[in-house]
Formats: sequence, structure tokens, C-alpha cells
Amino acid sequence: MRAIRTAGPCTVVIFGASGDLTKRKLVPALYRLVQQQLVPAEFAIVGQARTPMADEAFRDRMKQAVAEFSEDRRVDADVWRSFAQGLYYLPSDIGNAGDYRKLSDLLDRIDRERGTAGNRLFYLSVAPRFYAEAVAQLGRAGLTRPKAGSWVRVIIEKPFGSDLASAQRLNVDIHEWLDESQIYRIDHYLGKETVQNLLALRFANGIFEPLWNRQYIDHVRVTNAESVGVEGRGGYYETAGVMRDMIQNHVFQVVSLVAMEPPAHLDSESVRDEKIKVMESARPFTVARVDAECVRGQYGSGSILGKPVPGYREEDGVARDSTTETFALLTMYFDNWRWAGVPFYLRSGKRMPKRVTEIAIQFRAAPYQLFGATVMGEVAPNQLVIRIQPDEGITLRFAAKVPGQVTHIRDVNMDFRYGSSFGVQLAEAYERLLLDCILGDSTLYARRDMTERGWEIVMPILERWAQTKQDVQFPNYEAGTWGPQAAHDLLAAAGRNWGRA
Ligand code: BG6
Repeated sequence: MRAIRTAGPCTVVIFGASGDLTKRKLVPALYRLVQQQLVPAEFAIVGQARTPMADEAFRDRMKQAVAEFSEDRRVDADVWRSFAQGLYYLPSDIGNAGDYRKLSDLLDRIDRERGTAGNRLFYLSVAPRFYAEAVAQLGRAGLTRPKAGSWVRVIIEKPFGSDLASAQRLNVDIHEWLDESQIYRIDHYLGKETVQNLLALRFANGIFEPLWNRQYIDHVRVTNAESVGVEGRGGYYETAGVMRDMIQNHVFQVVSLVAMEPPAHLDSESVRDEKIKVMESARPFTVARVDAECVRGQYGSGSILGKPVPGYREEDGVARDSTTETFALLTMYFDNWRWAGVPFYLRSGKRMPKRVTEIAIQFRAAPYQLFGATVMGEVAPNQLVIRIQPDEGITLRFAAKVPGQVTHIRDVNMDFRYGSSFGVQLAEAYERLLLDCILGDSTLYARRDMTERGWEIVMPILERWAQTKQDVQFPNYEAGTWGPQAAHDLLAAAGRNWGRA
């Protein structure tokens, strides 16, 4: 199916326009949308931040950002001209009501000058403590209510809360001014092509779904590894840790797509209904389960690709005796008909040997082995590996006879690679997600119930780990390795292993 997706007129207001995300991701993504003519000429962007700056200076900065951070590292003069004409800057303070009146006047002016038709997308790329405040101020200034025939939407960046109570409070606060259809909670993993392909793999093919259950699958392993450390964000990371930063949001989003039932339709509510349904069936983490089925870790110094790197406790902004986890492993069970008894092992960590996110579906062994053990020496049960990033693709492992007079069987791989099959560069997640929001499609955004459910699941682990933090022996893995020994032992005790990522 190929759907042409060209958006209607609108103005995108970026709160926090002097920040990193704006220059690295948002403006390059919006530029690409203009370049591909996926947004019409009736399009504008307003950058909001506290620093005083004229429109021209903001345009110059953003041009540099596009040159530095866009995929092809260059700016097309014609595209830039039309992009820059619609680029405005408003110095203002998130907490100052008067500034929202200025914003309202500016948006009305832009509607008149550029024909943006009163359609507004507010992107909150500010510190999380300002989310509720910004929405309330927009509301009081009348900016959350769409004018007749137009729309108003708000994108909220992560982190969405720092625990269950704060996420619930934030939801209540923003719902005072917005209804759910106007709220777009972003999770950039859902914008990744390969994550979206999970739906196509499972539901556009006839051969996988019949096997996609406890009859045929032994277990599922999800690896989300980064070779980078905290990259100057030690202060933030100290308040987060990998459970809050990656697992509760990104990893759970990916897992819910792997584990959910087929939706009735592909519209946003049907898909999100199935995702929440499977997460509702996640087995609660009791204290005993946290102790026996979860592992936490923190990296010490080590080396990545032959280069020495400092330990987490030596990073800027990190306490010398920090107990924040930079690695976590969770064993999840979905107590439902499809998955009863099938463990999902999820691991995520920083400073691992390489950047890789993949899902390994490990099938059961053949029910009866006709070939003798000597013939089958090097054969492992079938495995389907979905590589989310980098080297995006899918590999199916199966056994084949080695050519020759002596029967000998070993594993071979059947490989699909995005790069060679389609010969295109995959779009940046933010490009897709921004366009979806402008089009009013929230399928790839987190719904209220999912944000809260994610927190609900991890809270008992966070609480148990907080209570027992004096017991941890951190650091417990060397930078450049695959996490603490306990993460390997846990699978080994069940006769399994992490395989080769
Ligand atoms: C962000 C986290 O949400 O995702 C970072 O805050 C992490 O700590 C990043 O590095 C990883 O994203 P990606 O797309 O590079 O896998």
C-alpha cells in the first residue's frame, strides 16, 4: 500500500528552540519535510526561547544546524529560501502570561501572512518541569482551543513523568486544557522504520503469525545496547537511570508491538488498544521476582573500540558513589493465552561494546531429532532476529546440510537488509513523527494509558532497587562489555544465552 501523505497548512511552535533537540533533530526534520514537499507552502515555524534574538539571527543558527545535522549535511539554496521565509523567533518566558499574548498575536499575523489557517502544533522541547506550566499558559491564553475549522495539537517530549505518580499528575494537569486527541506524547523509537516494520512483518505476512506464540517460541530477547556513555548529561542521568531513560518508554513500546494481538484495524485507537491490552497482561514484579529475575549494573572504566573510557562515577555531574543503574535486565511474562510461560528478556545498557538494538525470537527446537548428535553438532534452534538499528534488517537462522558426502548439518542465515533491498536511506524518526502529528495521526505516539502502565510495571523494581541500593557493588561491569556477569548467569541458569548481538 502506498499512501500519499501531504499535510495541510500549519504553524509549528517549538518551545525550547535554543536547545539541542531543536538543532539536532527538529529543525533538520522540518527542513526535510519542506524539501520533500510533504508540507505545503502555507507552513511556518516559530522558535521560542528566553534568549533575545531577531528572526534573522535565528534563521542563521538554524541554517547552520541543518548543514551540520541533516542526513546529507548540506543545505539546498532554493529549499532553504522558502524554509527560512517561514521561520520566526519569539523571545519569551514559559512562565510569563504576557508572552503568550504576544505569541497569540504573532500566530494570528502568521495566519494572515502565510495562510496557515489557524492550525497549530506546539512542540514542548523544554525541561519536563515546564510541561504542565506551558500547557496551562497556552490554555489561559486561549491557544489550546482550536478556532472553528482548525486544529491545535501539542507534542510532549520525554521523559513523561519520573514515576507513576508524577506521570499521572502530568496527565491530569494537561487534560485540564487539552483532550486526549490533541496530546501527542512522543517516543522516537516508534518513528524508526524498523519498529514500524514490526507491524508489517507480523501482519502483512502469512508465515510468521501462526508461529508467533507459546507453541513455537521458547523465549524472546530484546537487546538495546549503546556504546556511548551519558554524553555530558550526567546530571539528568543521575535522576533517571536506564530503567526510566530507556526501558519504561522505548523498550516497552517495542516489546508491545512484538507481543500484541493483531488489531482490528490500523487506525491509532485500534493499534494502541492492542498495545495496552498486552501490557495489561504483564506479570507484576514482586520483590521475589525483582531479586531473582532482574539485574542492574553500572559501568566502570574500560575501553570501547580500543579507546579508554572513564567509568560512570567519573563522568561530570555524577556522584562518586552513585548507585544509578546504567544497565538493566528484566524478565517479563505476559500472562495471556498467546504467551503463557514464555519469558521476554529485556536488556538495555550504556557503554556496551557496540550500538545495537535487536529483537531475537528464539523458536523451540524441532520436536524430534532424526539426525544424530554428531551430525547436528553445531545446530541451534531456529531464530528470527529483527535488527532495529544499525544495519537494519531481519535474519532467519535455520539448519542446512553442508555440501559433501558426509552428512553434516550446521546453521545458516537468510538475510534481509534494508539498505540493499530498498537502496534508500531510512528517514529520521522525527521526520515521520512530526509529519504524522501535522496529519493528525497519533498511532505512533504514546496514549495516556500506555505512559501510566509503563510506570506501573517498573515501579516495584525501582522501589526495590532504591531500598537495597546500599547492597549494590557498583561498578559491576567494565565499559565495553555486555553488562554484569549476573545478566549472563540469569539466562544460563535456564539453559539459554544472549547469543551474538
Ligand atoms: C534517548 C535517551 O531517549 O534515547 C538517551 O534519553 C539515549 O539516553 C537515546 O541515548 C537513544 O536513542 P537512539 O535513537 O540513538 O537509540
